[in-house]
Amino acid sequence: MYYSYFSTGSVKIDSEHANIDCMIDLCRNQKDEWMPTARVLISALANHLDSEERICREDGLNMTPDHLEEHLQLKARLAHIEKQIDRADLEKDEFLSTFRDMLFYHISNFDKHLKNG
Ligand SMILES: [Fe+2]
Ligand SMILES: [Fe+2]
Repeated sequence: MYYSYFSTGSVKIDSEHANIDCMIDLCRNQKDEWMPTARVLISALANHLDSEERICREDGLNMTPDHLEEHLQLKARLAHIEKQIDRADLEKDEFLSTFRDMLFYHISNFDKHLKNG
């Protein structure tokens, strides 16, 4: 998917988003064994949120209180999704579309404004 539309202007942050996006494709291409990759995807996004906050501090990017709050909400949603996977309450396609929507929505509405927010 990696269109320039999703670029934040920070190469470090963009490369983390791109890695997660590649892992989404990897998970999509797995048939029966998609759940371990889904768990890795969930932890990759949770780790990215912490990493992004650190990059913003180091590089002087504009991480707003609203953006930080959104990260907390995303982590709570990710924990919820992980439980659904553990209980086999979530189909692969549903997981992938939910996860991708979460990532894209967040980049579009928050990460893209890190430089000029
Ligand atoms: Fe963010
Ligand atoms: Fe991000």
